[in-house]
Amino acid sequence: MLERLERLPVDPILGLMAAFRADADARKVDLGVGVYRDDRGETPVVQAVRQAEQAVLSRQTTKSYVAPAGNPGFNQSMERLVLGDDHPALSSGRVRTIQAPGGCGALRLGAELVRIASPQSVVHVSTPTWANHVPLLSGSGLELARYPYFDPASGAVNFDAMRSALDKLPARAVVLLHASCHNPTGADLSEAQWRELLPVFKQRELLPFIDMAYQGLGAGVAADAFGIRLFSAELPEVLIAVSCSKNFGLYRERTGSLHVVSESSIAGDADLSQLVRIARSIYSMPPDHGAAIVQEILTNEGLRRSWTDELSGMRVRIQGLRNELVKALAAAFPQRSFGFIAAQRGMFSYLGIETSQVRALREKHHVYMTDDARINVAGLRSDNIAYFADAVAQVLRG
Ligand code: LMR
Repeated sequence: MLERLERLPVDPILGLMAAFRADADARKVDLGVGVYRDDRGETPVVQAVRQAEQAVLSRQTTKSYVAPAGNPGFNQSMERLVLGDDHPALSSGRVRTIQAPGGCGALRLGAELVRIASPQSVVHVSTPTWANHVPLLSGSGLELARYPYFDPASGAVNFDAMRSALDKLPARAVVLLHASCHNPTGADLSEAQWRELLPVFKQRELLPFIDMAYQGLGAGVAADAFGIRLFSAELPEVLIAVSCSKNFGLYRERTGSLHVVSESSIAGDADLSQLVRIARSIYSMPPDHGAAIVQEILTNEGLRRSWTDELSGMRVRIQGLRNELVKALAAAFPQRSFGFIAAQRGMFSYLGIETSQVRALREKHHVYMTDDARINVAGLRSDNIAYFADAVAQVLRG
């Protein structure tokens, strides 16, 4: 039976990791997978994670199961991190949380919950969106559609087109939004734009499904959650998928959470019971290690300060790289303005070059990025920005 299966192409993002590792050229530059790197090109274990990990392991007396919804302490800490300590949805008992195997697990759980509640729902995702949103969400059986989001000419959100498209959606449509650090474009909604979208969601009874994979890496821990906090206070229902991969550097530990803001506490209990059943039918229970580390960090004042300091350092470094890159590209190829890169947030930007030029960068200059010309800015270093900018200028000159 299995011998008849066709061989599939490698994942467009994860395939680049393997290609980069296999490249022996010393000049190689990895701007592919969204992993934070320091100025030596490394992704070190976050200091607070290292310390929390030791504390967790030294206290641990058993590897027995935790609970179907994961670690309750982690879930509570994540609710406060995402929504803020005094959020009205928390005080009115409208939030339920399930620990998830990474942000991907959270997205899939949310999609499965929507499918059970309303199998005909359509999930509307931005054009463009993270490549893996499509299989993750449609794998649940839900239909996907697109709404306009990015304006390549300005490098910013095409807000009028977005708002008027959402304003035409039927009631109960699900809209996937990126909380901050939009993947793949780096173009984020401003606070004013989140406020302008709110009445559209209210009037059209849309369900926001907000993906937050980069809290703290855009404008700050609270600022990156602005839209989530606003929508969760003002709307009856919100789904929030959160990843701890990037901001805690816990990539391989698969740590995340799904938060459901429900209309009432009773509805919340029912939603959580459904989520527990869904998780049980897919993977039973989430992995514990990363969640235990995050709980330790968020509940220990010293570790939390150390983590927020290191996270601020990552954010400042990324913004610095953005500014440096704009200067280097202006020097190498003054014919074109790349100023939009400095105005964007988070790890990613679209360079706005052709796929053939992306391939030429890979083949001739050992520079790796996805075929749509998405770059992970955090993959640059002060000692290779000029090399990268020159390579881009060379392929642009043809
Ligand atoms: C990315 O977009 O590169 C990251 O979110 C990693 C991944 O799993 O694709």
